[in-house]
Amino acid sequence: MKRVIFYTGKGGTGKTVTSCATALACSKLGYRVLLMSTDPAHTLSDAFNMHIGNESTLVKENLYAMQIDPVVEMGKQYQQLLAYFASLFSSRGIDETIAYEIAMLPGMTQIFSMLRLEELSYSNDYDVVILDMMASGEALRYLYLPKLVGSLSRRLFSFAGLFSGMARIIEPIAKMPAPSSDVIKTEIELIGKLERLADILKDRGLTSIRLVANPDLFSIENAKRSLMAANLFGLNVDLAVINKIIPKVDEPYFAGWIRQQEEYVRDAEMNFYPIPIRKARLFESELRGIDMLERYARELFGDYDPADVFFKEDIFTFEYKDDSFSMRFRVPFTEKDDFELERLGDQLTIRVRSTTGNIVNIVPLPSATVGMRLSKARLQGSELIVTFERE
Ligand SMILES: Nc1ncnc2c1ncn2[C@@H]1O[C@H](COP(=O)(O)OP(=O)(O)OP(=O)(O)O)[C@@H](O)[C@H]1O
Ligand SMILES: [Mg+2]
Repeated sequence: MKRVIFYTGKGGTGKTVTSCATALACSKLGYRVLLMSTDPAHTLSDAFNMHIGNESTLVKENLYAMQIDPVVEMGKQYQQLLAYFASLFSSRGIDETIAYEIAMLPGMTQIFSMLRLEELSYSNDYDVVILDMMASGEALRYLYLPKLVGSLSRRLFSFAGLFSGMARIIEPIAKMPAPSSDVIKTEIELIGKLERLADILKDRGLTSIRLVANPDLFSIENAKRSLMAANLFGLNVDLAVINKIIPKVDEPYFAGWIRQQEEYVRDAEMNFYPIPIRKARLFESELRGIDMLERYARELFGDYDPADVFFKEDIFTFEYKDDSFSMRFRVPFTEKDDFELERLGDQLTIRVRSTTGNIVNIVPLPSATVGMRLSKARLQGSELIVTFERE
């Protein structure tokens, strides 16, 4: 496994078609490719117009696809662990079937699907692994394991330790079932795997996240938030795809749409700067079947190798001090420009006066800034450093 690419973005923006297109283009270049999706709606089968199973299915030369069912995945390896968590809840008087539902924390299923990556990293079956994530926000949170695993594993370890030694004694008092040694063993193995998964995700030469947005306000906002969050958790975003741009057609009905989309594309270019952007037009019809997806891939990537790491730096960097929090990010303007900053809730608006009018850049703020006020902003070269202080 030499390359791992995640596509994420708001619902319906084109994550699945872009993942398929990337996979097709990479396989054409001779890479051995595996495309994985965890979408319960079986969208890979729809996109390729053929049945894709939950084990790798040959799509065409060099290209395999897999529709992972997270629940099956979890049941396969972690049934014991899940059963134990469920028994914890049911020991508190919660109905067993509901206890299972609760034990299955939201998004937990996604983690178990991602563990497939960890398994794959031991084999040499594929060069490029592409993951079509479910509608983002949710899904991307579970990519932030690198930071989570540390604390999670410590918690689980102490949990395991506590129960192995003490639980049998407390069991009758606490009315809590003690985990069996099998449960503890599974738990410890799981922690090891999660840590390895975290290493895979953090490796910038290996793993990239790519944002898919359309030229509309919500999907761009969503992608920007994902970008900020990815940087916050130390993951690399190497490309943004703006998909479904209405081409310039001589049709008065669409004139307003075209004008508005041009503005959103400019907005996206400014906001994702300096992450490279690839643009794709809205095709004449849905993108289904290998031929159409290959056409889309050609227009999207041209002569580029889609497996390249297109960008490797953090756009946002963060620094915590006792009572302050600084955020540093590159902006497409220098000292000479006049700019104004305004904080509105969890967003920072940067208004830049330029010869062609005002350009507005909206930066999503991390939750750490809640309860802090914007205290300082200064430009250093092409970087803007914004400091927040506790009130
Ligand atoms: N450039 C395009 N031109 C025409 N149709 C497109 C284009 N991009 C995507 N589509 C169509 O839009 C629909 C949504 O695309 P897709 O399923 O890839 O989005 P998604 O982000 O994966 O959605 P979901 O969030 O539901 O998983 C599909 O019917 C797809 O064929
Ligand atoms: Mg999809």
